[in-house]
Amino acid sequence: MPIRKLTTTVLFGVIVWMVFGLGPEANSPKKVRKQVFGKTSRGETVELYRLTNSKGMEATIITYGGIIVALKVPDRNGKAGDVALGFDSLEGYLKGHPYFGAIIGRYGNRIGKGRFSLNGVEYTLARNDGDNHLHGGIKGFDKVVWKSKQSTGQGGPALELFYLSKDGEEGYPGNLSVTVTYTLTEANELRIDYQATTDKDTVVNLTNHSYFNLAGQGEGDILRHRVMINADRFTPIDSGLIPTGELRSVDGTPFDFRQPCAVGERIGVDDQQLEFGKGYDHNFVLNGSVGTLRLAGRVSEPASGRVMEVLTTEPGVQFYSGNFLDGTLRGKGDKVYQRRYGFCLETQHFPDSPNKPAFPSVVLKPGARYQTTTIYRFLIASKE
Ligand code: GLA
Repeated sequence: MPIRKLTTTVLFGVIVWMVFGLGPEANSPKKVRKQVFGKTSRGETVELYRLTNSKGMEATIITYGGIIVALKVPDRNGKAGDVALGFDSLEGYLKGHPYFGAIIGRYGNRIGKGRFSLNGVEYTLARNDGDNHLHGGIKGFDKVVWKSKQSTGQGGPALELFYLSKDGEEGYPGNLSVTVTYTLTEANELRIDYQATTDKDTVVNLTNHSYFNLAGQGEGDILRHRVMINADRFTPIDSGLIPTGELRSVDGTPFDFRQPCAVGERIGVDDQQLEFGKGYDHNFVLNGSVGTLRLAGRVSEPASGRVMEVLTTEPGVQFYSGNFLDGTLRGKGDKVYQRRYGFCLETQHFPDSPNKPAFPSVVLKPGARYQTTTIYRFLIASKE
């Protein structure tokens, strides 16, 4: 009898051990898997990395553009859904697209007239957005193949990406050595750490351009998503989407997201700023101190119960409501991306800062280190 009892106890122990993942890897899939995704037209191999945690979240990132190609996040029933817009194959990305999931640099967002002066020298950049320079130029950091290294740091499975942007690339001064680290934590956070050093004075503003739809990619527009942005002010723009230099209070405007508000609620009102942006395409001046990781915004989607929080050390965030999506792109699973099928929250320095001395400086000098962090954290809405 004692022997039988012992056997039962041991058996029970083994079952508990297996089910709750105290041992076997299968039950604790905090890992990184790697495979080849394809080749660029220049013959460079593009790798795909899949980061998984034990909470049902998965982030898939490729070395071309450091693009987040998929982000699987559980809904309120525990069912995982892909909340990031993108393509199934490398060809989709190579054909050209509006920066889906990509790392943006050397300067994210716009630089007016594609020029700026630094230490009395004028630098000329590509004008790839009407009269202006956008997202690093013709071949920005979103279109280069990054070197990669996987790691399983303390925070969770991680992918480190490296790129050396040569002196003069896209018109920018200085050799810029960039490291971007994606970490998937057990708290369902995708953490992005950006670092850079230079050998000459230059300007830097790195971000990620993921388009989210918390109902699932391709599942309709984002107008019912409720958005909160932790900003008392925003930077109004001219008709070319270049900030005028003013920091305007959001008070009494359709840009007041201090209390959660559905994207669609005020997007159609008669407002010159919304007209210029064709909807929301504006930089918000985040409250709190720059350099400190703090809440920038929170977005919730009522049907799925998914909530995304954005935390950042950056001074600003571009809220873009996918106004330029127009149904011409066919994405993952053959989904057609119609107008406003995705939104972006691009954490950043303010647009056109190199030409706006009153904005926080974007100058990086030799010997200094550019270092910023942004976290996309996924939660489930608490029942009301
Ligand atoms: C940024 C810009 C938008 C648009 C998209 C890409 O978010 O602010 O105006 O150019 O990129 O389509």
